[in-house]
Amino acid sequence: MAEARLVDGKAYAADLRARIGRQAAALKAAHGLVPGLAAVLVGEDAASQVYVRNKERQTVETGMNSVGRRLPAETGQAELLAVVAGLNADPAVHGILVQLPLPAQIDADAVVDAIDPAKDVDGFHPVNVGLLSAGRNAMVPCTPAGCMMLLEDTLGSLEGAHAVVVGRSNIVGKPVAQLLLAANCTVTVAHSRTRDLPAICREADILIAAVGRPGMIEGGWIRPGATVIDVGINRIEAGGGRTRLVGDVDFDAALLVAGAITPVPGGVGPMTIACLLRNTLIACCRQNGVDVPPDVG
Ligand code: GUN
Repeated sequence: MAEARLVDGKAYAADLRARIGRQAAALKAAHGLVPGLAAVLVGEDAASQVYVRNKERQTVETGMNSVGRRLPAETGQAELLAVVAGLNADPAVHGILVQLPLPAQIDADAVVDAIDPAKDVDGFHPVNVGLLSAGRNAMVPCTPAGCMMLLEDTLGSLEGAHAVVVGRSNIVGKPVAQLLLAANCTVTVAHSRTRDLPAICREADILIAAVGRPGMIEGGWIRPGATVIDVGINRIEAGGGRTRLVGDVDFDAALLVAGAITPVPGGVGPMTIACLLRNTLIACCRQNGVDVPPDVG
């Protein structure tokens, strides 16, 4: 069998960012509006600092305003809630993102609940979670939205396909299952306690791996010709004191069995920030009564 087709998320995300940039410019020309995204980072977590810096850089490159809020690791709950309240009230801020994880003294649920659902560009607020599960107009979480774009670009209609999601997190597993259902897939959500996980995975026309365990999905778990979306981003030792990024799927083995697969890096990863920018543009349009351009969804 031929090697799987590589799903180029890096190229897709670059094209999506270019489209968003053109729409942001059009929004400014027609309505004098510049979408604004506020990223709140509490503490010094190295990975979070990199993520937030990348988000801020790409926000500016797309022609939007970036509002940074850096708070010390010992910030208290009330102080963070006051920052969120200020951003909720600021008409120049259309999207708010509080980078997770938060330090232990802060109740992350209470912070997410405090974000105005209309500005919740992560799609984590219970109102958006509920709207998504009801199949209504929600702010859709970024990584799941990116997975769906890559799937639809690769396969066209997903109708009737059996999608198996491995992982049940609030950030990826649960929302991507809702989106797959909305796209008329038959959906199985599997997780660490699932019995005979390899057999369940082998039933998948579409396999979404979102467990955070490097190389856990073996080649023999994949149905020949299946489309594999690898959401995992795991840093492992590569010898000589070096590290490298790998997904949740044994990529080399999967390449020989799957019909199409996302690489790591360069697959789902770049889609997350592109979808965050897309949500910010959508939030800006909705908050100002402007039609959302069909080009960005
Ligand atoms: N931490 C890891 N992923 C995410 C994300 O998508 N949004 C936020 N706010 N924090 C994260």
